[in-house]
Amino acid sequence: MKILVCDPTETTAIERMRKAGLEVDVKDDITAEDLPNVIPPYDGMVVRSRTKVRAPLIDAAKNLKVIVRGGVGLDTIDADYARSKGITVMNTPLASSASVAELTIGYLFALARSIYPVTASMKAGKWEKKKFEGDELGGKTLGVIGYGNIGKEVARRARALDMQVIAYDPCIPATQDVELVSLDELLSHADYITLHLPHNAESHNMIGAAQFAKMKTGVRLVNCARGCIVDEDALYDALISGKVAGAALDVFAEEPCQGHRLFTLDQVIGSPHIGAATKEAQGRVGAEVADKLIEFYKKMG
Ligand SMILES: NC(=O)c1ccc[n+]([C@@H]2O[C@H](COP(=O)([O-])OP(=O)(O)OC[C@H]3O[C@@H](n4cnc5c(N)ncnc54)[C@H](O)[C@@H]3O)[C@@H](O)[C@H]2O)c1
Repeated sequence: MKILVCDPTETTAIERMRKAGLEVDVKDDITAEDLPNVIPPYDGMVVRSRTKVRAPLIDAAKNLKVIVRGGVGLDTIDADYARSKGITVMNTPLASSASVAELTIGYLFALARSIYPVTASMKAGKWEKKKFEGDELGGKTLGVIGYGNIGKEVARRARALDMQVIAYDPCIPATQDVELVSLDELLSHADYITLHLPHNAESHNMIGAAQFAKMKTGVRLVNCARGCIVDEDALYDALISGKVAGAALDVFAEEPCQGHRLFTLDQVIGSPHIGAATKEAQGRVGAEVADKLIEFYKKMG
């Protein structure tokens, strides 16, 4: 079985696949233009976030039987279309949960104590002790939107910091684990809001002007899910008005982005979609990709 690795993937995972008998070619910087010409002989492809697998590429991939995405969402793949053509589509849903949760918790501390601006002030040779009085996280309410793998990991860590956790997730049944509330209740009660839901038609720009208006003044927002879930213009306005005191963003409506308007504001901190970018998560993603492809290969006989 011929596999094309289209995005950077752990070397140990590639070696394991080869040892198991898979013929693996690595072209992890292949462009979207070249891919339709290269893909036809391959039975399987490994992708991360960079390579998008849309319907025209699937049509070009005449031999394709399996797509494995190293990562959580399948929003970069036309998965239903691929499945309608008999192609198996898999991902690695658990591999990066802990890393994204840790980044989220890091951002909560960074927002509460202005860690980035206070460091910039120190580097500028200043000693602005009064300006940087912060807040404790303990005793504050954290609203988790999307109570799946990552949302639960964030909640567990937040409880250990003595935060009260409430969650909004219309797709899961009542649970003893957390107080599930309506979106409006969450917006009006939370001191910190963190997003851990997929981006889809329903969640597109789901946090917009009307939702910011319902939030507590001085709320802080963390988005380590997907950029398009938050209306970035409405967030900008909410930051300017003071409704939102701070925002930490790992994801953006358009990626990669440089010189983003939100980063002209001191209250905004962020990162270039690095939620899953830890050695540990990358190792687990690679291992899970290899496990899934080897299992698929064995089943094919
Ligand atoms: N920043 C990063 O590098 C990074 C890494 C991994 C995942 N992510 C993002 O995090 C998201 C969550 O990952 P996960 O592993 O927890 O996924 P998951 O599928 O385990 O959990 C998602 C939860 O969101 C809920 N949900 C769906 N639609 C909703 C809606 N409209 N409102 C509220 N809740 C809704 C689902 O019921 C589910 O419980 C992914 O979809 C992905 O976009 C980002």
